[in-house]
Amino acid sequence: MKLTLKIWRQKNAQAKGQMVTYPIDGIDGDMSFLEMMDVLNNELINKGDDPVVFDHDCREGICGSCSMFINGEAHGPDRLVTTCQLHMRKFKDGDTITIEPFRAGGFPVIKDLMVDRSAFDRIQHAGGFISINTSGNTQDANAIPIEKADADAAFDAATCIGCGACVASCKNSSAMLFVSAKVSQFALLPQGKVEATDRVMNMVKQMDEEGFGNCTNTGACEVECPKGISLENIARMNREYMSASMKG
Ligand code: SF4
Ligand code: FES
Repeated sequence: MKLTLKIWRQKNAQAKGQMVTYPIDGIDGDMSFLEMMDVLNNELINKGDDPVVFDHDCREGICGSCSMFINGEAHGPDRLVTTCQLHMRKFKDGDTITIEPFRAGGFPVIKDLMVDRSAFDRIQHAGGFISINTSGNTQDANAIPIEKADADAAFDAATCIGCGACVASCKNSSAMLFVSAKVSQFALLPQGKVEATDRVMNMVKQMDEEGFGNCTNTGACEVECPKGISLENIARMNREYMSASMKG
């Protein structure tokens, strides 16, 4: 395949960025999107040009770092996949592909397509954990019976990989799908009940401090989420927040 790539280039957070056009040839449909970017970068390096900086780690849909906005969609045109799992067979010979970083006030650009998503780490640190006494008397978690429906819903919420596609897809740059998934994975389990009040209050407070917007129920986040995290989690987080606020 012969393609035309229009890629956002930006030297650093302070610099003014711009779209730059790169023609590319010899792209196979079986290549992943990131392998296609590797081909481009090899060509740029061989010409003595600056390669395009983009984030990636696992390249198998687990780490959540491959944040790219492709043809106007977070992680591109395929459903339920990350950019690293997107294959070039989704595109046609002669296509023009526009590639931008995830754009949100809470995700400042570091360089080119790489953004700083450490705001998500700070939200996690604010409450996305449980404290366990490991003195030797700890009860085996598997000894506590849990309804199958609750276990399944908690597991589904726990599949959030913190990629930020929900934020990038939302007109308000809301992080509520991410935060609600992290709240829900504990709220549904007895192990998460102990710190439930502080957890939801602290995580929502941190989310607001990081500059993410509010949810207005547009649902774009759910559509673009590579892990299929449901909007039901936002409703659950709102219930958790209301009950925590009443406790004081
Ligand atoms: S909710 Fe989905 S889109 Fe948002 S961070 Fe988690 S996996 Fe990514
Ligand atoms: S590189 Fe890890 S999810 Fe894409």
